[in-house]
Amino acid sequence: MHRMIIDCDPGHDDAIALILAHRHADVVGITAVAGNAPLEATAANALAVTAALGVDTPVIAGADTSLLGVAKDARIVHGESGLGGVTLPRHDRALAGGHAVDFLLEASDPDTWIVAIGPLTNVALAIARDPTWPTRIAGISIMGGSTDNGNVTATAEFNIYADPEAAARVFRCGAPLIMCGLNLTHQLPVDDAVLGRVRQIDTPAGKLATESFTFLLDRLDSLTGTRRASLHDPCAVLAVTHPELLDTESCTVTVELAGEHTRGMTVVDRRSRSGVEAHVDVGVRLASEEAMALVEGALAGE
Ligand code: RIB
Ligand code: CA
Repeated sequence: MHRMIIDCDPGHDDAIALILAHRHADVVGITAVAGNAPLEATAANALAVTAALGVDTPVIAGADTSLLGVAKDARIVHGESGLGGVTLPRHDRALAGGHAVDFLLEASDPDTWIVAIGPLTNVALAIARDPTWPTRIAGISIMGGSTDNGNVTATAEFNIYADPEAAARVFRCGAPLIMCGLNLTHQLPVDDAVLGRVRQIDTPAGKLATESFTFLLDRLDSLTGTRRASLHDPCAVLAVTHPELLDTESCTVTVELAGEHTRGMTVVDRRSRSGVEAHVDVGVRLASEEAMALVEGALAGE
């Protein structure tokens, strides 16, 4: 099993990613970052999800704003708590001491994948603290960006939009990088048919997913008129645990920081150019049915 640290901002799809990762990987730690909701909420949600799973994975809190000191959230999608509609268990778990950046630097080794499924602030701060760190980990699997449209603006995806400076730093850090952008994650959709199957799964994870999907489908129906949600973050886990489910292209990726209309855009250059190292494996196709079967299996504890 791959050794991994998950940097996240739970968030409903983060919660499903945590369930999937605990089933198929050796999760040595969870670092929380502000994103879908403020840090206090995302850290508490990460603790509650581990309690629901009955695992004692350490949860360490990290950055509560972007590198520029700006806090953007997605509570319009995930609700005020970040896990709207989900009844979380009462528990006695507490955050581990210290800061997420220290944990990322100290708990990782050459076999450790960093699965980054929220804004990239913690990861960027770790790189700034130790620029050699990216050469001493297995790689970074990022849910973020897109090869086509964004979801916060026409060009920017939320995890990048929330901290573009951090994302720019991560994309040029030198570690092996996998990018699971919206172009890929939209290939792992949840609709009422999926909800109907998940509702039959009689486990704590199945209940959490049922409540999550019910909330997300209702919320996205009211926001977009369509009862469809994407399981974004689980894709970044599968990219490490089941790479055979993804087709990737080796590209260069830069993050737009100054564009009036394009700030936070991942500029994915798919051209092959001599003398230019294509340094990011960008997911372009997902074996959707197999991926969803693994998600549903993990919810069932299979
Ligand atoms: O744009 C999708 C990403 O933003 C996912 O990580 C979701 O959890 C939100 O953080
Ligand atoms: Ca997330």
